[in-house]
Amino acid sequence: MIDRIVNSKSDNELENDDSLIENTLRPKDFNSYIGQDRLKDNLKLAIAAAQKRNEQLDHVLLYGPPGLGKTTMASVIANEMNAQIRITSGPAVERPGDLASLLTNLSDGDILFIDEIHRLHRTVEEVLYTAMEDFKLDIMIGKGPSARSLRLDLPHFTIIGATTRSGAIAAPLRDRFGLVHRLDFYTIPQIEAIINRAAKILNVKIESSAANILAVRSRLTPRISNRLLKRVRDFADINGDGIIDSDTAYKALELLDIDELGLDPTDRLLLATIIDNYNGGPVGVETLAAITAEERTTIEDMIEPYLLQIGLLERTPRGRKVTSKSYIHLGKINNQDNNQASLI
Ligand SMILES: Nc1ncnc2c1ncn2[C@@H]1O[C@H](COP(=O)(O)OP(=O)(O)OP(=O)(O)O)[C@@H](O)[C@H]1O
Ligand SMILES: [Mg+2]
Repeated sequence: MIDRIVNSKSDNELENDDSLIENTLRPKDFNSYIGQDRLKDNLKLAIAAAQKRNEQLDHVLLYGPPGLGKTTMASVIANEMNAQIRITSGPAVERPGDLASLLTNLSDGDILFIDEIHRLHRTVEEVLYTAMEDFKLDIMIGKGPSARSLRLDLPHFTIIGATTRSGAIAAPLRDRFGLVHRLDFYTIPQIEAIINRAAKILNVKIESSAANILAVRSRLTPRISNRLLKRVRDFADINGDGIIDSDTAYKALELLDIDELGLDPTDRLLLATIIDNYNGGPVGVETLAAITAEERTTIEDMIEPYLLQIGLLERTPRGRKVTSKSYIHLGKINNQDNNQASLI
């Protein structure tokens, strides 16, 4: 598989240069967190109310496509609450005992961030229910006939859960979150502002025309705009005077094979295959996975949401269909329209 700009998190978070940059660029408070205004307004209110009552914040569930700022928002919330944040992820909490030790080590008002919360083990999830609701922990001590259950009081903590697949969260878990919010794709002006902010932090000179060129091709996603900025900066450092103007931006993007809608070769292969081999669709997601050699979840979580958002693809009960915008974008002839036209 080719190294893709759209790749979600890197495999090795610490050693990877992109992740280091990601951490430096993370906004720390509501003011520097650009966009997602409805989410911010709701959180500000909930935080102010919690602080006024001197209580912990309600549990928060954030969902939406990768790279839109869920993890970032969790740390912003912690900052704004002046709370300590512990970070874990669904797959990392293997047994109820792991959860018990995480929870018993918290203090009142602490935040426990659970990334990929949809991947929590069922048995762990069940323990989490009572913990979230009553701040009690039911654990079994011992084995066999001498086993007994013990109920422990827990500190009053806040869980912030993040997931790219809200559909994969069991209803009883979802219902225990007081605040449930979807993160939306950003607008192009918001992405431009994010690029300009990142350029400032990284001390990169970028002309506003170039910032716009990058913004348009960033899949409306801050993680991708930050990555593009970094690659284009490399290009400008090696091939120019370090200043990113529109010419440099175009050349660097061409080298990355990213087109004017931000699509990369895998996106284009996916759309072209639906057109060429399936007459525009519908076609099942498993077939698309086989064609592009990507996992089904990669298609569903990372590739598809943007293609749906900008109207290149449609989801139907029988599978995925391309739209006429896809035909135009790829310069293909739309036989479906022709057939319909000849019937009229
Ligand atoms: N609102 C924002 N303003 C400025 N930069 C942002 C914003 N949201 C995200 N970013 C930048 O994008 C990067 C990716 O965001 P983040 O890691 O929070 O995404 P995520 O939703 O948690 O993704 P994943 O689902 O893959 O975990 C961050 O490092 C941050 O620099
Ligand atoms: Mg994250």
